[in-house]
Amino acid sequence: MIAMYDSGLGGLSVWRAVRAALPAWPITYLADQAYCPYGSRSREEIIDRALKVGRYLESQGATILVVACNTATTAAITAMREAFSLPIVGIEPAIKPAAAMSRTGRIAVLATEYTLASERVQTLLDAHAEGVQVLRRAGHGWVEQVEAGELSGERTRALVRRVVEPLLGENIDHIALGCTHYPFLEPLIREVTGDAIRLYDPAEAIARRVADLIQQHGFDSQGDGYCRFITTAGDGGDMSLRLPQLIGLPYPVESVPLA
Ligand code: DGL
Repeated sequence: MIAMYDSGLGGLSVWRAVRAALPAWPITYLADQAYCPYGSRSREEIIDRALKVGRYLESQGATILVVACNTATTAAITAMREAFSLPIVGIEPAIKPAAAMSRTGRIAVLATEYTLASERVQTLLDAHAEGVQVLRRAGHGWVEQVEAGELSGERTRALVRRVVEPLLGENIDHIALGCTHYPFLEPLIREVTGDAIRLYDPAEAIARRVADLIQQHGFDSQGDGYCRFITTAGDGGDMSLRLPQLIGLPYPVESVPLA
């Protein structure tokens, strides 16, 4: 089974890509909504959640674990790799391809404050964005809007415009989406940028990485494609309402508090 987790529903943007690439694989997706958003939490808290979630998913039969959250990857992937022996795939902002493709020599990365301030992003910038000006911007309030299923209302539009409009005068030609919630706001981002600016969502690259690892490890496809969805908050009712909206399909949602 492929196990995936995020602070909430954002990782479903990665789920879509993994599901499309590996339709026969069972996937268990856990939304740690009791602790969402991670972006305003401390490193210690995010690591503590990562270890609890990882242990639970391992107990459910995970053969590979996808951290479908940039913030959790940034804070906790090293600790997770030390704690668990199963292969772990993390996600990070697509700064490398965005910088490599830039003609104007100016790009932006949108992510949580936590991710933007992290050493991991600094390392990516140092390694892959030499000579490229990278503007870092946090999508304030965006995660909460996606969690609430508010993907197109006026408040969400205003929150997106507040961040994206000022970028129009900056001569950037690429935006790396460095938070897995943000691809769900792509239509609103595009309303502002039009086609002149290219958006990079790393979800498909993550799906390819998962497929490669499965092949390298010789894991069996386990054929039935059974999907489970779990939340750590409430009774699952809210999340089950969101699934058709975010992934186009209804599924039952289990509640596992993981306190
Ligand atoms: N979806 C997450 C990310 O990719 C985290 C959002 C949050 O919980 O702050 O960074």
